[in-house]
Amino acid sequence: MEEAARNSATGTKPLLRVLERERQKIPPVWMMRQAGRYLPEYRAVREKAGSFLNLCFNSELAAEVTLQPVRRFGFDAAILFSDILVVPLALGRKVEFGAGEGPRLEPITDGEALAALRESIDQEMLVPVYETVAKVKAELDSKTALIGFCGAPWTVATYMVAGEATPDQGPARLFAYRDPDNFQKLIDRLVQASTDYLVGQFNAGAECVQIFDTWAGVLGPEEFMHWCIEPTAKIIKGLRQQVPGAKVIGFPRGVGFQAWRYAKLTGVSAIGFDWTFDRKVIADRFQSELPVQGNVDPVALLAGGAALMREVDDVLKTLGKGPLIFNLGHGILPETPIAHVEEMLKRVRG
Ligand code: CP3
Repeated sequence: MEEAARNSATGTKPLLRVLERERQKIPPVWMMRQAGRYLPEYRAVREKAGSFLNLCFNSELAAEVTLQPVRRFGFDAAILFSDILVVPLALGRKVEFGAGEGPRLEPITDGEALAALRESIDQEMLVPVYETVAKVKAELDSKTALIGFCGAPWTVATYMVAGEATPDQGPARLFAYRDPDNFQKLIDRLVQASTDYLVGQFNAGAECVQIFDTWAGVLGPEEFMHWCIEPTAKIIKGLRQQVPGAKVIGFPRGVGFQAWRYAKLTGVSAIGFDWTFDRKVIADRFQSELPVQGNVDPVALLAGGAALMREVDDVLKTLGKGPLIFNLGHGILPETPIAHVEEMLKRVRG
């Protein structure tokens, strides 16, 4: 009975089947940052929207850019078009994306700035994001899954503390060493906010979510345990209390073999790897325990040709024998030629 209910819920969507640990003969494919500047149709809508945040909060346009790569390439999943930094925004911080530069936030430098944060996210502000989810869901066919997402508390905190992208996340690491009690408060606030945000996305129609921990790799083992694994585990536990069985892909980028503890302790349904991770180790040690996602080097995709084919073939040969979601090891680079994406897909599906 439960099995039947589950099957009808996940249907025949290959990506959701893989999250149920079922290998697919042809692995489902999507790309991190698949809606973005490498697509001319994205650039056109982005221009029409004016600013990046206008685009994120205009559900009509955000749904359109979410669907663009699915229409063009037939990906097995759509990923909600939004950003990890809408969470600080919904906690009452100023967030801006200047033209052609990274994000700018009011930096959090002390306990006082922390005290000014909202207790919980402004769900009213996020209604357009949930509307985007619902609009996209209504447009997808019976094979294409809808992925929601948030940033992991650590990664979001690195931006909130520094106020901008930093090469080594130094400001957040320094804050965490100097004032762990206040940093813990920030992380706890983000755990609650992220949980509420993901529940909102599931309620609107997301079928699984990815937690992006882009900057997990700068932390030593103890800090990684405390600032990445523990908060992520709390989010997943809280999420599943409200959305039983919720499927979560974790992406702790650049953490090397610490990914093992992450896989064991967070409760993720699947784990995404960046391209630096030895694929044989992924296959032997991880894939027997849980589905894996990845991990073509985005620069190989940019290069195209023989280098790209070698990467694609190696992923298929090494990881294709178990449950695999084919993806890049990080987001697609804006300068990537569309023809290279087409070649990659042809190879995966051929
Ligand atoms: O994957 C998708 O297509 C869905 C949309 C999505 C975006 N950002 C759109 C975006 C997702 C899932 C993200 C996640 C995100 N945002 C992460 C984690 C993943 C990763 O790439 O590491 C991070 C760290 C951010 C924060 C962020 N957003 C930065 C640092 C920047 C500026 C750098 C850059 O890539 O431009 C953004 C802007 C952003 N987010 C753009 C897009 C399409 C480009 C903005 C534009 O179009 O002007």
